Amino acid sequence: MQVFKKKQLFEVKESAGKSGLVKTLGAVDLIFLGLGGIIGTGIFVLTGMAAAQYAGPAITLSFLLGGIACVFTALAFAELASMLPVSGSAYSYAQVTVGEGMAMWVGWTIVMVFSFGSATVASGWSGYVLGIFESAGIQLPTLLTKFPAQGGLINLPAVFIVTVLTAIVLRGTEGATRFNGFLVIVKLLAIFLFVFLAVPHVDLKNWENFAPQGFDGIAAGAAVIFMAYTGFDAVATAAEECKNPNRDLPIGIIGSLVGSAILYIVVSGLLTAIAHYSTLDNPQPMAFALRQHGVSIGATLVATGAIAGMTTVILTQIFAQARILMMMSRDGLLPEWFGVIHPKYSTPHLGILVSGFFVILIAGFLPVSTLGQISSMATLLVFGFVSLAVMILRYTRPDERRPFKCPAVYLTATLSCGLCFFLFSQLFWVNWKPYLLSTLMGLITYLSYGYWHSKARLAKPAEG
Ligand code: ALA
Repeated sequence: MQVFKKKQLFEVKESAGKSGLVKTLGAVDLIFLGLGGIIGTGIFVLTGMAAAQYAGPAITLSFLLGGIACVFTALAFAELASMLPVSGSAYSYAQVTVGEGMAMWVGWTIVMVFSFGSATVASGWSGYVLGIFESAGIQLPTLLTKFPAQGGLINLPAVFIVTVLTAIVLRGTEGATRFNGFLVIVKLLAIFLFVFLAVPHVDLKNWENFAPQGFDGIAAGAAVIFMAYTGFDAVATAAEECKNPNRDLPIGIIGSLVGSAILYIVVSGLLTAIAHYSTLDNPQPMAFALRQHGVSIGATLVATGAIAGMTTVILTQIFAQARILMMMSRDGLLPEWFGVIHPKYSTPHLGILVSGFFVILIAGFLPVSTLGQISSMATLLVFGFVSLAVMILRYTRPDERRPFKCPAVYLTATLSCGLCFFLFSQLFWVNWKPYLLSTLMGLITYLSYGYWHSKARLAKPAEG
């Protein structure tokens, strides 16, 4: 049956060769793209809340736990990305392992990850910027800063940042990665500055009740901060714009994830050592903790770094979403114009415009807290699927060339898979209605368009 028909590896690679995208990215660009997509709301916003409500100073162990789970997934991603360097990421891996119908579901799930995720981060961005305005004595009218369910009309700052970043992504990958690289440096400097300013104020008395809720608190903390690690998967969507994808994709994926994990563990350890965890339940915990010690300028600089961090996350997600749409259109599952490359900017400009417009609608007008959780659920499914796909391909295509091989694949991928589906189930019972509704929209799109236009279905069967 067509729905289960798998693509051949060579078919996917061949279509990538004809994409028209320009190859400009090297390993360092990819690490920066990964750091751009990873470090944002999770560390700058969620850490304090997770420490105060669940893990206490053991939030460092929550970050370690989340990091280990993601490293397992990243190893699977790295193997598949080096073997199949195409922009479709997990969507393309699904085309060759489980067939078109499931690939449509995986592609749709990735679109949910990026669109709901970037809208959530844009809303966090808006909150941070308004906070800075307020501390400077400037108050914007509620009508322009809150979405309708909150008594406003539109979240204008969120709409503003998504519009600007959509334009930057549209005008070319080289410019977007340069801008992203600059902001990644700003946010890394903010993190190093925090470390430098925090060290003299460490008071180990704050660590006395290290894990107030024991392992349960550490696990709950890990679920809450899981979002902090997502984003490294966006690196795989730049595959067709890499100069040496087989070597550089694994470096970009694993390098950016491990780098972020180290920073997260150090920052969360210091944060809970300079301020008692019970005081950290606020959306700017790092700046707050520094202010407690009278380091106000440092606090403002760290807040600026947080804004830079969230900006790069939104940029990376819009970039990645447009590439997934492009790949789905290449297979006929979405209209062809999603894949049209701009003659001057060499980007899938119509896909980028649609992605940006959709994110603007969500970020400007809808309550994003539930959507953020749906983005996390969708991420967990994609990560779980990739771990499954790496094992399927090891079994079905044992002799295929693999420039990077995931070590102890059946162990690491099984652990990753189990952990992802377990965390998914935790969130599913709370958000099953909006999650199933979003997934249903994907199914309707497939049944009403994708199935009828699928290039694989319309292709003439090979003679003989
Ligand atoms: N990992 C990204 C963040 O923390 C999504 O904002």
